[in-house]
Amino acid sequence: MIVPPDTVSLSDYEQHFTDRVDPAIRAYIAGAGADGITQRANREAFDRLRLMPRALRDLSRASARATLLGEAMAYPIVVAPMAYHRLVHPDGERATATAAALTGTWMTVSTQASVTLEEVAATAPNNPLGNQLWFQLYLRPRPEDTLALVRRAEDAGYRALVLTVDAPVNGLRNMEQRAGFRLPADVSPVNLVGMALDEVVASRPGSLVFQGMLHNAPTWESVAWLCAQTRMPVLLKGLLNPEDVDPAIAAGAAGLIVSNHGGRTLDTLPATIEALPFVAAKAARRLPILMDGGIRRGTDILKALALGADAVMVGVSVLYALAVGGVAGVAHALTILQTELEVAMALTGRARLADIDRSVIFDPPRS
Ligand code: LAC
Repeated sequence: MIVPPDTVSLSDYEQHFTDRVDPAIRAYIAGAGADGITQRANREAFDRLRLMPRALRDLSRASARATLLGEAMAYPIVVAPMAYHRLVHPDGERATATAAALTGTWMTVSTQASVTLEEVAATAPNNPLGNQLWFQLYLRPRPEDTLALVRRAEDAGYRALVLTVDAPVNGLRNMEQRAGFRLPADVSPVNLVGMALDEVVASRPGSLVFQGMLHNAPTWESVAWLCAQTRMPVLLKGLLNPEDVDPAIAAGAAGLIVSNHGGRTLDTLPATIEALPFVAAKAARRLPILMDGGIRRGTDILKALALGADAVMVGVSVLYALAVGGVAGVAHALTILQTELEVAMALTGRARLADIDRSVIFDPPRS
């Protein structure tokens, strides 16, 4: 896998991915829910925001180092949880984790990873840059299965759990449906072997959605139960509504991830960068806030930090880079983002992440 020499931005990786990858796999990875309105909104909302530069500030001691959950991180960037990296690379999540470790980037491994969580953790043990692995969880229909995953993640050295709360049912994936996406025979959710599936119980009377798919859907009580089962911090991923902040804190959440699942769940949800300031205001620094959805540039990261995020998650672009360039591609893509963030900080005169506040967003005068 050779990264084409004209690849200088994350959108270049997207273009090469589109040119190379099988259409059905592409529809799953790059696709969105229903009409893709939220997926497009994530990008458009970032692009509408303009930055206000500052000239000639002292940047001699500048740094993009961050602190999250009390731990130092090289950059405020975490790889978002995504299923089945082996769809685009034979080493799957192992390759992604190697690249994350090489660049000091924290990474979230999906419950639906195509490599066991233990194998991913063994790929990059105690790397010198001190980056963390987090484990993403959907609550399983049987609590004992959830607990088994939590214990395995603890034993393998994962540092936090990311509980996804916005997809008790999948969004309507019309793009996948049209493309006829099916998992290839050699790619599967290997961490879930032997566990009960939360598939529809066809014989159950009533609505396919409510009595079928949502039969075992988690509630705030389930979140409180999970938080009480582990010493790992539990971050909740998939919140957009400020009304969900207090229940999340009451249930024991250690952090919130403002997300619309990359536009893959309910279509016509707002862009995450638009929802972020409202969630951050409600949280009022009681717990860290991350966001994902549409991050393609260092300027996007700067805008997210300006509007209340402590760090961002980068999702599908990582899979684009994995498909195009393997370990080197992902390491390159993450390095591009890091460098772009530093350039954006330099040109807006922000020497530290703590200096990135709302005044970095250009607010056109209303006349
Ligand atoms: C998805 C599920 C795995 O977005 O979260 O495809």
